[in-house]
Amino acid sequence: MNSVSRRLLFALLAMTAAQVRAEDGYELWLRYHAIANESLREHYQQAATEIAAPSTLALAQSELSRGLSGLLGRPEPITIQSTRNGSIVLGTPRSSPLITQLDLSLPKAGNEGYVIRSLTHEGHRITVIAANSDAGVLYGVFHFLRLIQTQQPIDALDIHEAPRIQHRILNHWDNLDRSVERGYAGQSIFDWQKLPDYLDPRYTDYARACASLGINGTVPTNVNPSPIGLTAPYLRKYAALANVFRPYGLRVYLTARFSAPIEMGGLKTADPLDPAVRAWWKAKVDEIYALIPDFGGFLVKANSEGQPGPQDYHRTHADGANMLADVIAPHGGIILWRAFVYSKDEPQDRAKQAYSEFAPLDGQFRDNVVLQVKNGPIDFQPREPFHPLFGAMPHTPLVLEVQITKEYLGFATHLVYLAPLFEETLRSDTYARGKGSTVARVIDGSLFGYHTTGMAGVSNIGADRNWTGSQFDQANWYAFGRMAWNPLSSSRQIAQDWVKMTFTNEPAFVEPVVDMMMGSREAAVNYMTPMGLHHQMARTTHYGPGPWVSGGSRADWTSTYYNRADAWGIGFDRTASGSNAVEQYAKPIAAELASTKSTPEQLLLWFHHLPWDYRTKSGRTLWDELVIHYSAGVQTVSGMRRTWAGLQSYVDPQRFNEISAFLTIQEKEAQWWRDASIAYFQSLSKRPLPAGYAPPGHDLKYYESLCFPYAPGHAPLPDAKCE
Ligand code: GCU
Repeated sequence: MNSVSRRLLFALLAMTAAQVRAEDGYELWLRYHAIANESLREHYQQAATEIAAPSTLALAQSELSRGLSGLLGRPEPITIQSTRNGSIVLGTPRSSPLITQLDLSLPKAGNEGYVIRSLTHEGHRITVIAANSDAGVLYGVFHFLRLIQTQQPIDALDIHEAPRIQHRILNHWDNLDRSVERGYAGQSIFDWQKLPDYLDPRYTDYARACASLGINGTVPTNVNPSPIGLTAPYLRKYAALANVFRPYGLRVYLTARFSAPIEMGGLKTADPLDPAVRAWWKAKVDEIYALIPDFGGFLVKANSEGQPGPQDYHRTHADGANMLADVIAPHGGIILWRAFVYSKDEPQDRAKQAYSEFAPLDGQFRDNVVLQVKNGPIDFQPREPFHPLFGAMPHTPLVLEVQITKEYLGFATHLVYLAPLFEETLRSDTYARGKGSTVARVIDGSLFGYHTTGMAGVSNIGADRNWTGSQFDQANWYAFGRMAWNPLSSSRQIAQDWVKMTFTNEPAFVEPVVDMMMGSREAAVNYMTPMGLHHQMARTTHYGPGPWVSGGSRADWTSTYYNRADAWGIGFDRTASGSNAVEQYAKPIAAELASTKSTPEQLLLWFHHLPWDYRTKSGRTLWDELVIHYSAGVQTVSGMRRTWAGLQSYVDPQRFNEISAFLTIQEKEAQWWRDASIAYFQSLSKRPLPAGYAPPGHDLKYYESLCFPYAPGHAPLPDAKCE
């Protein structure tokens, strides 16, 4: 076949593949489909003629080869040493004499960073992807492939990248029976029954996807752990996973149940100051490290939502964390101690409790303890102010925990791109050391000089073919990884990359879809909890609206605790006349939030209890403004559905149809949220809807009667009842 007919055949194959191949989303953003534009493809082909890599970098080399052969349509010859124009040279100073010779400023890349540089070597134009570690080279390879996937120039590269955050960890809330707490993507990907003997190829694909984002840690078990999760048979299962993950730079961590010495060790106590307890943990830790030499450490939820902890023995969180830290320190592990604590016996505003508990302990933790703090003080709501602990613990490294799974944002069927939420938190100014003391600077260590830094994301991954329960939820896994690598990244830029890699580079597709993603979080805030409302969902399952939820075992699990709505008004007074949660923030913020006039309207009802006829900035009453916000949320989703409907020609039918159907579900459920919320609040405010706004489709009783005892992400409700 001559070259013209070869090209023709290739173009034809590429076209047919794009049109015919049903895609289920399994490939994620690592979708190395051939670049259709022929001249662009040829241009890249000239810049990537061969791969030169030492044998120690087989994994990075094979990923690059896989990517290039998919994108550029022909396999790359592999050599050990570069000789030609267009060589892509991979190496570390240890593995490659050429890398050692070149002046690449590699020391600045640290252990995980990399350099990608175009240069001339012995008269040949080559591209070097170099790092100090094998994982660094792999990260560099993924970056290089991303440039081609997103059709960027690769001729004059001079990229220096190093993560701003050390520990970039996925937290799976996966149970040993393969159910996933707050998981909406099917069962757990970890098939415990078949481990350690059967290694599902998915584990490799999972590690690959994590590595493509620089995610370097994973906790495969739930923060509400089973007592048997640390028994020897399970340790062997985690060890098998760790062996698969290790080449991808992904370390395994485990959740630890504080009472394990009693449940598993037969001791009478789990008191952290008891020598027998300490000895039990030491033996357990030694056992783990014998199986997993690079084990990362423990993630602990203690004295929170019924979990055991040191306070059961009148010890502090520091006593508990330090005991574990001491036994793990000789192995180099860390303790991620969660700050998500609040007690049913504590009358204090739930939003204040973590701060009250932990701020006084600043400086009392061992060096290898970090506190893992949720982005906001309640619980992953569609919008929260940043957690007041950020800025309040200069001597204790704080790790930011965000939720990637959408427990409170419509589950998998609502398209809500979370990067703007992460970005909003990261860019919030704590004023801890004056203006510019952002949460990003707290967690990247630059504000207080933390010696350890981290960011954790509660995973949305499950056994569904598309990994995350929906195509667009892949973007949230993706965005978490990119932001954990660099918390200063832009959510829009990340969305652009993701859309191009996951679908197509066509601007007529990319632009509207990115706009849709960027507006989607605000839409969810509007149709669920506008203007600072929070925690208004159905009890327990958290599926759908439930602003009327009250009573039950604890007030701080009800909606009325948070909305405080009555005939007079609505909102939670957290100023000095109320719970005074505002005082937990630095002075300039506390002052801003103390007054209704300076509180950003998007957080108004988080901090203030106001009459229905309170005048908002628009001049309208609070009641009217709320109705307008709820309605705007639904309108945005209708707009998203219409936009998507016009993009059919750019997407394979399988993914197109799935997304269309999900947007229809989202539109219906956004309407449900709006109508149910308005019906409930109107029963208290007794006010008419503003002109032109339709009344709810049903009466309040109807919305209150809806019950979904089998909603995913939670064990079925007892007796299939919602109360
Ligand atoms: C939320 C969630 C729980 C989870 C908890 C946690 O409250 O609903 O399922 O266990 O957060 O973060 O520990």
